[in-house]
Amino acid sequence: MPPSKPRTRLALLDLTPNEWKIEKLVPGGDGFLHLSDGKSAFASGALPGERIRVEEMEEHGGYLRAARWSLLEASPDRVEPSCPVQSECGGCDLMMLDYSAQVRAKQGILLEALQRTGRFEQLPEVRFVSSAEHYGYRSRIRLHVGSGGRLGFYAAGSRELVEIPGCIVADPELSTALIALRDLARRYPRGFEPLSEIELRVAPAGPRVAVHLLPADRGFDLSSAFAVELARRFNVSVAERASDPSQDQRFPLPGVELRVPGGGFTQVNWAVNQALVHALLDATQKSGALRFCDLYCGAGNFSLPLFARGLTGLGIEASRPAIGAARRAAKEQSLSGARFIAGDVRTELERLPRGERFDLAVLDPPRSGAREVLPALIRRAPRHLAYCACDPVTLARDLRVLCDAGYALEGLTGFDMFPQTHHFETLAWLSLGAGTATPH
Ligand SMILES: C[S@@+](CC[C@H](N)C(=O)[O-])C[C@H]1O[C@@H](n2cnc3c(N)ncnc32)[C@H](O)[C@@H]1O
Repeated sequence: MPPSKPRTRLALLDLTPNEWKIEKLVPGGDGFLHLSDGKSAFASGALPGERIRVEEMEEHGGYLRAARWSLLEASPDRVEPSCPVQSECGGCDLMMLDYSAQVRAKQGILLEALQRTGRFEQLPEVRFVSSAEHYGYRSRIRLHVGSGGRLGFYAAGSRELVEIPGCIVADPELSTALIALRDLARRYPRGFEPLSEIELRVAPAGPRVAVHLLPADRGFDLSSAFAVELARRFNVSVAERASDPSQDQRFPLPGVELRVPGGGFTQVNWAVNQALVHALLDATQKSGALRFCDLYCGAGNFSLPLFARGLTGLGIEASRPAIGAARRAAKEQSLSGARFIAGDVRTELERLPRGERFDLAVLDPPRSGAREVLPALIRRAPRHLAYCACDPVTLARDLRVLCDAGYALEGLTGFDMFPQTHHFETLAWLSLGAGTATPH
């Protein structure tokens, strides 16, 4: 649970139990327990089964949070984090938990969200796909630029820059690129000043490393000696400026390749993404669906493999550069009939002619979920839905709406796209129950 502003900071009085036994991890990754008075309590960094002494506590509306605590009894699954800056950097909040216990905890988090937020009493079996790589799996990282060209991540819940020596969950080529960027920062001490963030991404099928610059204002000068040197070493793109299509990065997918422009969205763990796409293709094949609509399609991560399997349909996505890349990929790979629309999902879905039918809708919305689009989707009543989500709580909320409208939840698979963190992806498969909603 994200910490809200504390109402009170409690000195620990005798009245307040200051030894807590953590029951489980909850969405957001915090340790959680029920106190004897029924109140909920959270301690970030504490693991299931651990006993902690709370040294400073915050009272928020309906719950308590340990602001400072010490460990009394460690979980047998607690391990030494492999990264020297794990406790300062906000990224890998579960690195002190053994990997198989991380996967179990994420399964529990998914169930918790579905039961609590989604009010599901009966669920299909929840499968969970682990990541073969526990480190070195991230194909992109976004660095913040601090004063004097310092590069790093923000500490958890703050804007304090933690300069990282490298990042062990990132592909080693990205850490090598970071060393090269630091070298440039030494030679051009003011070069990074106009930038607020830099995204580094490595693509399996090339061009290998791309650097995407996010300037703090519009004044970034691409003809400066620093920018010229940067472009000599890397494949560079700049936010809000058109990128060169010949520099699209290429990512292999089942039967087809994805093209991604500088700064475009890509799933971060490519091996796990491939497992996710395969799971979608298998479920689609079993369902017999022939015509699909891929909402929030990005550069075509799901639509391109569906087209390559011979399905027809369309993808809708707000990012014009991503849609441009999806169209180029379809054209270059002779996926005739592939259709991509640039625009807001809800507006475009409502604008589609009434007669435009599809028997599968794929949804992969951002963290906030797809609430606004559900009424238009339900009106079209596609027989099957494949909902891919990175936030189990908004997923559970949206699944409840869909199931109340006549869909049945038939399959649930978690994908550990982000080892060492509490994050994961879920693919939910739903089908319209017999005799329920028909398109209107
Ligand atoms: C989680 S990403 C998924 C992209 C793609 N399915 C993939 O797997 O690479 C979500 C995408 O939704 C797009 N998006 C966010 N809000 C949108 C909206 N209201 N309408 C259309 N697209 C939107 C973002 O630009 C982003 O590409």
